[in-house]
Amino acid sequence: MSSVRKVTEDLYWVGANDKRLHLFENIHPIPRGVSYNSYLLMDEKTVLFDTVDWAGCREFLKNVKEVLNGADLDYLVVNHMEPDHAASVEEILIRYPNCQVISNEKAFMFMHQFGFDVEGRKDEVKEGDTRCFGKHTVTFVFAPMVHWPEAMVTFDTTNGVLFSADAFGSFGSLDGRLFADEVDFDRDWIDDARRYFCNIVGKYGPFVQYLLEKAKTVPIQMFCPLHGPVWRKDLGYYIDKHDKWSRYEPEEKGVLIAYASMYGNTEAAAQAMASTLCRKGMTNVAVYDVSNTHVSQLVAEAFKYSHIVLASVTYNLQIYPVMYDFLHHLKVLNFQKRTFGIIENGTWAIKSGTLMKEFVEKELKECLVLNSQVSVNSSANESNEPEFEALADALIASIGK
Ligand SMILES: Cc1cc2nc3c(=O)[nH]c(=O)nc-3n(C[C@H](O)[C@H](O)[C@H](O)COP(=O)(O)O)c2cc1C
Ligand SMILES: [Fe+2]
Ligand SMILES: [Fe+2]
Repeated sequence: MSSVRKVTEDLYWVGANDKRLHLFENIHPIPRGVSYNSYLLMDEKTVLFDTVDWAGCREFLKNVKEVLNGADLDYLVVNHMEPDHAASVEEILIRYPNCQVISNEKAFMFMHQFGFDVEGRKDEVKEGDTRCFGKHTVTFVFAPMVHWPEAMVTFDTTNGVLFSADAFGSFGSLDGRLFADEVDFDRDWIDDARRYFCNIVGKYGPFVQYLLEKAKTVPIQMFCPLHGPVWRKDLGYYIDKHDKWSRYEPEEKGVLIAYASMYGNTEAAAQAMASTLCRKGMTNVAVYDVSNTHVSQLVAEAFKYSHIVLASVTYNLQIYPVMYDFLHHLKVLNFQKRTFGIIENGTWAIKSGTLMKEFVEKELKECLVLNSQVSVNSSANESNEPEFEALADALIASIGK
């Protein structure tokens, strides 16, 4: 008994699922878990593509052993050295002493830095090199900064399988399902896929674009990523999502309203803004309290929508710290190309609006702040009504463009 799944005639998923880990990279919550995918090719030579995190090593070793069924392991291809995939490399090398490691110069340098003993077992490849394992010939395509500098992807020219490393991955444990067409991806997985992409590789959009361009030159039939489902149907749907995310283009015309409020007055203003928009016909609105929504989700929602309203109290003459943290994440992730509306609040020296506008205009690329702004003095009243109307109208006009 094992969790092995057959991917193609002679390729097997031998990875592991992790439902115990609370925080991926010790920062991003993963309530649906995560999978560490590893693939074993049973050709004339046996070839393992990447390994798994320490947490999944037991399940993984059992899967590998079962598929090998007494055969030796000839090669281990290391596409990415991050420990969620490479932690079990040494364990494989110890158990299969004849196994050679195929990887690139930078990855071998990282193996050395992480203390792996691969001396005498290295087969170093360069961009475009090929290796033949019998029926299958693979070629190596470097994918720097997707998601580390040593990352590469491996393309099987025989059947069109792309071992895509962290590209085209997702949070979420597989729980028996392997293929994206075995789940309702657009209903149950896309939010986690977006949150994975934006927070893990979002910063490296131009590098993802570079990889997507390279991918157009080969006839890909299947994505075998290192996390989440394998894609064998409808690849265009997933490529299109990644194309948008990596160009920082929104998926949907709509408004994300993110508010920061201590006592509920700014929250009420955010809800009033949402109602005003909906009354005027713009119902694709998502409202989040920054204090109880993880920033990885706020970031993913920001990538999804075309327009963003930031509503924040003034706090010690600053933007509320949690709202500032959200804005800081957007900056670090290279977030771009959005239109913002501002709602500020304060009781004696209102500063948050000016500071948020300044942050968006100075720190985020190609982002615009609408002139109409709502300024709340402690709590919104009738005198604010024209501001709400004007900001809603400005948002709707901008969305319509
Ligand atoms: C620790 C703290 C610091 C604050 N600093 C400022 C400030 O610098 N300027 C200001 O106008 N209001 C300041 N305020 C007041 C709040 O911004 C104001 O009362 C606001 O209306 C609260 O909105 P809320 O109900 O959405 O929390 C501060 C409040 C707290 C608790
Ligand atoms: Fe990674
Ligand atoms: Fe990863």
